[in-house]
Amino acid sequence: MKKQTKLINAGRNPEANFGIVNPPVYHASTVLFPTVAALEKGIANRYDAVYYGLYGTPTTFALQEAVAELEGYPHCVVVPSGLAAICAALLAFLEKGDHLLMVDSVYGPTRRFCDEMLKRFGVETTFYDPQIGAGIAALMRPETKVVFTESPGSLSFEVQDVPAICEAAHGGDAKVILDNTWGAGIFLSAPDLGVDVSVQAVTKYIGGHSDVMLGSIAMTEEDNIRIRDSVRDLGYGAAPDDCFMALRGLRTMNARLPIHQENALKLANWLSQRPEVERVLHPALPSCPGHELWKRDFTGSSGLFGFVLKENFGKDNVAAMLDEMKLFKMGFSWGGFESLMVPYGTTPPRSAVPWTSGQLIRVHAGLEAVEDLIDDLEDGFVRLNA
Ligand SMILES: Cc1ncc(COP(=O)(O)O)c(C=O)c1O
Repeated sequence: MKKQTKLINAGRNPEANFGIVNPPVYHASTVLFPTVAALEKGIANRYDAVYYGLYGTPTTFALQEAVAELEGYPHCVVVPSGLAAICAALLAFLEKGDHLLMVDSVYGPTRRFCDEMLKRFGVETTFYDPQIGAGIAALMRPETKVVFTESPGSLSFEVQDVPAICEAAHGGDAKVILDNTWGAGIFLSAPDLGVDVSVQAVTKYIGGHSDVMLGSIAMTEEDNIRIRDSVRDLGYGAAPDDCFMALRGLRTMNARLPIHQENALKLANWLSQRPEVERVLHPALPSCPGHELWKRDFTGSSGLFGFVLKENFGKDNVAAMLDEMKLFKMGFSWGGFESLMVPYGTTPPRSAVPWTSGQLIRVHAGLEAVEDLIDDLEDGFVRLNA
């Protein structure tokens, strides 16, 4: 079966549910056991059967089964946010004295987690150039336990050579974790590239409607228990209502993503012709660092990209442009049905490869008619130039 078909069916069992198409929402804290023997069996199978609300109800299990199918791994655990998924995956493999290689273009709060929490607990982080590829081998140390990748990177959108990084990391017995939120499990197959653990902010494309916070950790048989123990020790439990919403979003991902893709490509190409724009940061454009790798490893592109304005536009001009946009609204997160635009200043946090440029603006292309989005942008450029 093709992945599209699997996504429609994974985690559903209408025959066991009065013929109803979608799995019901099961809420639980206490789960009752009729005998001591059943209770002991429950404890032994806590990750595979209903045991205690924190470890999931059948609604959670349905989402986990469906995301595992989407990502192409045998196991998945869902947690209350994308950031929680990243932190739980890192904490599963790291302890005092360990070394972590973290991509410089990582999502800001992941960087903060390394600089603050991991540092306090004695884990050293080295940020590396997103374009390093096989050169990562030179940064590996005996105590390097994890190489974290995010491709394309947050804000600057460099595409990484994930297979080369996996080869070097595995040569040094380190695990590779990928933040696969942009590729969504649709445009990038993490297990095929050699990635051990693929995390996603379910909040974005799986949820798809800007109304749910969740994260997923998809993993191999080998890492399953270690990661589930980490999630358990942190007390992360995903809310059943949110799992239901995410399952609903997941069924239509395959229909939504091609529209996000097409609208983003049209906007990116249109923006690259504008005299006000210095460069457009979109993996499918040849000007984007790592474009050749995108062509090799991805089957498409999603709706999130960036552009940099020429340096002569001040903060007030940018505010005039953004404050009055009719369709592109300002706000964090992305992956919903609506278009967004957020200014990210001129110096996003980087330590391995310093970044300074004109004003960086991140765009999420929603599902509106692209002609209307272009009209909105065109009016915005009039205000920018005023
Ligand atoms: C690439 C990436 N990873 C992870 C996250 C974190 O997701 P959440 O907001 O669900 O914690 C985000 C959120 O913006 C993101 O952009």
